[in-house]
Amino acid sequence: MQHAIQNNIHFTDYHPAPADFFAEVMEGLQQSPKAIAPKFFYDAQGSRLFDAICELAEYYPTRTEMQILSDHAEEIAGIIGEKSFVLEPGSGSSTKVRLLLNDLKPHTYMPMDISRQHLLDAAQTLAHEYPWLDIHAACADFTTPLMLPVQPQTLNKVAFFPGSSIGNFEPAAAQAFLTHLGETVGVGGGLLIGVDLKKDPELLHAAYNDSEGVTAEFNLNLLARINRELNADFDLDSFVHRAFYNRTLGRIEMHLVSRRQQQVAVAEETFQFHRGETIHTECSYKYSIREFQSLAAAAGFRAVKVWTDGEQLFSVHYLIYQG
Ligand code: AVJ
Repeated sequence: MQHAIQNNIHFTDYHPAPADFFAEVMEGLQQSPKAIAPKFFYDAQGSRLFDAICELAEYYPTRTEMQILSDHAEEIAGIIGEKSFVLEPGSGSSTKVRLLLNDLKPHTYMPMDISRQHLLDAAQTLAHEYPWLDIHAACADFTTPLMLPVQPQTLNKVAFFPGSSIGNFEPAAAQAFLTHLGETVGVGGGLLIGVDLKKDPELLHAAYNDSEGVTAEFNLNLLARINRELNADFDLDSFVHRAFYNRTLGRIEMHLVSRRQQQVAVAEETFQFHRGETIHTECSYKYSIREFQSLAAAAGFRAVKVWTDGEQLFSVHYLIYQG
């Protein structure tokens, strides 16, 4: 059944420029070492595989963060206060914010996503479930500057950035992105952010090398996607998934490793791979509580409170922007 058109939804289209998949793949494969950005994992198939990853026994981040948010929703709401304006960059299906809404009761929720239809569907469903909530969906690239609508009814602005997505940025870029969020919420505004913690490398290794091979399939889907969309001939059996924890840099690295010397055609171009050569597809940085707090401090945020689970697997920070 079609949902009735809800009167608690606004929609603003900032007409984000879609990423140029072709240009970025060509450039990435010309580099040495070869690299392709993790944002390209998430076509329809990749998004399904990521959802499957989140259900895996070994992949602790999603369920742990959700447990932390639901366990502490009341306290989080108490700290943020009433009539807030909650902005969520990269909101997807708006799953995690639901854990907070009943306690937080924000005046306005602004889900922001580059995927227009998914955003509209998610906002429609949310509007139906929370008829008291004012929803301002924004189709936008959350990495580009954005003016929030002026809403005199709302008090503090808060950015919600769960999922340890911050881990995909290099630390310097993460700092710049946090400052961008700070400028968006303004001085006195808040940031509620989920950050994966440093921990036993064996647990980290298992989370990115699951026994069912879903993460391997997720990684290899990038090559399948290049074949589908960019007229390429990657032989998926000639590449293997590799993920490991780089202790020195405090990050998980994901690569696709060429099992043999080979050449691959992408559109009109041919790329050479030697045996063992890799395409670097993802970094997932892990931060101790102190490390993240000092990164955030360098970006202009003061730490207010941090919540973790009993096993110290994952952290949720609340910080205030000081400029
Ligand atoms: C979505 C970036 C948080 O780094 O854990 C999961 C993506 N990659 N398994 C992560 C991912 C492989 C995930 N983030």
